[in-house]
Amino acid sequence: MQTERVAIDPLHPAPEIIARAAAVLRGGGLVAFPTETVYGLGANALDERAVQSIFAAKGRPPTNPLIVHVPDLAAAVTLVSDMPAPARALADRFWPGPLSLVLLKSARVPDVVTAGGPTVALRAPAHPVALALLQACGFPLAAPSANPSTHLSPTTADHVLSGLDGKIDMVLDAGPAAGGLESTVLDLTVSPPRLLRPGLATRAQIEAVIGPIGHGPDQNPSAPLRSPGMHERHYAPRAALDCQADSRPRVEQLMRQGVRVGWIVWSPTAPEALAGAIIERLPADAAGYAAGLYAALHRLDQANVSHIVVDLPPAGDAWLAVHDRLRRAAHS
Ligand code: TXA
Ligand code: MG
Repeated sequence: MQTERVAIDPLHPAPEIIARAAAVLRGGGLVAFPTETVYGLGANALDERAVQSIFAAKGRPPTNPLIVHVPDLAAAVTLVSDMPAPARALADRFWPGPLSLVLLKSARVPDVVTAGGPTVALRAPAHPVALALLQACGFPLAAPSANPSTHLSPTTADHVLSGLDGKIDMVLDAGPAAGGLESTVLDLTVSPPRLLRPGLATRAQIEAVIGPIGHGPDQNPSAPLRSPGMHERHYAPRAALDCQADSRPRVEQLMRQGVRVGWIVWSPTAPEALAGAIIERLPADAAGYAAGLYAALHRLDQANVSHIVVDLPPAGDAWLAVHDRLRRAAHS
């Protein structure tokens, strides 16, 4: 299959391009599109065959459920058997935006989307291209991150093509995704609601709306996986990676061993470059760091480093998602 790359204005997407992409999706095809977090790989969520082809293109295990994207709360209501008050309050506060809500699904949602489970994750993405596409389609879009399973999520169309060229019909290229990390996933089918994946909507922001939520590993480790994507090596660059509070000695040690090293630092640390190490500098604020992290990891993979050392970023609520992804990337 030939993957078509179509440039589109991120703020004022041309209706004729959106219509073409919607036609591909209506026909059961796969279209990668930008969201405010990362690029997603979309298919008609109500078309079982189309959704199956997402799993095939990504090499994703069928046990890992997909997030379904909707234009708004009204569209979400048709996909769940119940929309509890806290879910409505969160949708009012965060949608369109980077919060995925796990709710009991309605019969409209095919089992292949939810990996056979009784719940579905829903979100309305805050990107003009994604919203225009959802409006034009008139059906919800199942869309995981547009990368081969377990690889880094894409924040540009180049990243999408480097993993999925020839396996999908089209990619809408609207430039870099501004957020840079995936949405927060919150399970509202348990009490208290549980944070399954930290993301750009922070725990403190969520708790300000619905009160205390659960987080951290499940109390009962033998219970069925609540969010299968969370328990494997994920969000990982090709190179080995580790995080260090004092990163320079680690970089020097690896270089003495003849290892080709990438070094990710953030501004206040701002060490001078070490001859031979490939340095990536990220901003000192959580939003700026999140926006740049995956692109930096993609560049280091492209530069063929075999080890990445990350200078440990600051702690705190706003940095939770960054630490989560770094921990996963380091897990091999
Ligand atoms: O920002 C994002 O969320 C991006 C953009 C494209 O929207 N999408 C994304 O999808 O990151 P994906 O498939 O790469 O990650 C979805 C995560 C996985 O960890 C999956 O296991 C979890 O959400 N998930 C999906 N449906 C679920 C459900 N019903 N119950 C629990 N976890 C679920
Ligand atoms: Mg993913």
